Amino acid sequence: ASPEHISAQLLAWYGKHARQLPWRVQPGQPAPDPYSVWLSEVMLQQTTVAAVKPYFAKFIERWPDVYALAAAPEEDVMAAWAGLGYYSRARNLVKCASEVAAMGGFPETEDELRKLPGLGAYTAAAIAAIAFGQRAVVVDANVERVISRLFTISEPLPGSRKIIRVRADQITPEKQSGDFAQAVMDLGSSICTSRDAKCLLCPVAEACQARQGGDPLTYPVKAPK
Ligand code: ADE
Repeated sequence: ASPEHISAQLLAWYGKHARQLPWRVQPGQPAPDPYSVWLSEVMLQQTTVAAVKPYFAKFIERWPDVYALAAAPEEDVMAAWAGLGYYSRARNLVKCASEVAAMGGFPETEDELRKLPGLGAYTAAAIAAIAFGQRAVVVDANVERVISRLFTISEPLPGSRKIIRVRADQITPEKQSGDFAQAVMDLGSSICTSRDAKCLLCPVAEACQARQGGDPLTYPVKAPK
């Protein structure tokens, strides 16, 4: 299957099956605001969607935009974050909000986003693609698993990250790369999971090399301990 075919199948599937999440808009609709995208992506870094939802709602209600958050005392933000864990994320959140407020809003490119406190390669790419419609290659653990299976990447993680990125780049479309990234994340969390590969429900099963090989669960390959 061509890269264009794979991305088209994934986008079509996302059009029908995208999860409705409070920080999302419907696929194909104008982009959600960068503040919501940033806040949700930072919260989701080491935390499940279910755990994030109530915190996201609380933060948006209390601090509806980046200027409100920038003006908040750090203790208040830390207290509101309590229970989500990985507290360096909350400290960086406050720092990042102040920098962004001082800049007059979020920068729109992956490179500039990457310089903000707490924004790693994944988050910067996700915000550039989802909030600003830029083409960016967004790779998280779900994406790594899906790509490893689609292309039967035989090298174990973490050494395989480079080739995974090359493959992800090849199937990322020029347009709607934010929808595309979220399609792969949703596929990885609902269908192509680490314990199960529900190939009968998968929109790219026909292109998937691991499925053809008969044992998708052996990917991503883990280095022996
Ligand atoms: N995990 C982290 N960010 C996500 C997103 N935008 N959609 C689905 N799962 C995610």
